[in-house]
Amino acid sequence: MNFSEKKLNQRSKIYKKISPTFDKKHGIIVSKKINTKDTKPLIKSIENFLHDSLTKYYKKKFIKKNFIQKHINEILGLPNVTPGGQLRGTRETMKTYNNVHKNFDTLLKKIDLYNNLERLAWFSVRIKKGIDSKEYKKHTYATSKKHSDMWAGERNHAKIVLMLIGDTKKNTVSFYKPLKFTKKTFNFGKKSFDEGLQTIKQTQYLGKANKNEICLFDQYCLHQTYLAKGAKTRISIDMRVDIKGSRLNDNRPSVKEDERMVLYSAKRWSKLNYKNIKYHNKSFRELSKLYK
Ligand SMILES: [Fe+2]
Repeated sequence: MNFSEKKLNQRSKIYKKISPTFDKKHGIIVSKKINTKDTKPLIKSIENFLHDSLTKYYKKKFIKKNFIQKHINEILGLPNVTPGGQLRGTRETMKTYNNVHKNFDTLLKKIDLYNNLERLAWFSVRIKKGIDSKEYKKHTYATSKKHSDMWAGERNHAKIVLMLIGDTKKNTVSFYKPLKFTKKTFNFGKKSFDEGLQTIKQTQYLGKANKNEICLFDQYCLHQTYLAKGAKTRISIDMRVDIKGSRLNDNRPSVKEDERMVLYSAKRWSKLNYKNIKYHNKSFRELSKLYK
């Protein structure tokens, strides 16, 4: 067994104890299809949060039917949308944002995953437009390259992605297994996605994230934004996690570095109130000059 195979085996072991209802054939990514009736409350809560953001920021009424498609430009014009498409919670929308968390918590318990999670970060709701404007492309250029989030400084084991709303066939994330890499590839030193990729000789395509299918992928699993021609907007949820029972990459020393890198014990995460997280407790006004 060569170095790369040995490492991939080691990483796959992190997910060994996760419920057999998850598809584990690729080792470094495990996934599970979820009943639409189980994702429905989460989808509803995200729509409510979006609708709440529109109403509060633009100070007018929006008819709920098809409002995401109809008002996509207004949604993307919200001051709490980051260049990467993350929808930050705001002081004005605290209630509906906390409600997304509550529904996500319920779902993780329902699909038999929560008990395998040791630490969790706060989730992100992400909106990605299908056809990018030039300006937008410039910002998201990085995620259109194959990468590991470790290269961006993350120390958590893995990440969860769940595609929920919109054109998730043409607008999603694709996953790859690195087949030949070096010791430097997955060390903790920050590096650009180009630098990281240069240390990998070969990758194998593993598949894409599908709607209503939870994907839990390891930091050794490369991924990139997938955008097909004619793609429309999609909305997904993602979150950084550590898995129970593995001592690999203990991230505790890094916890205090940056609020956005914090991981909470599962117990604390379950009761998280976003009012206590500065990143999600700014007003629209405070955010309005940040990304424009
Ligand atoms: Fe990423």
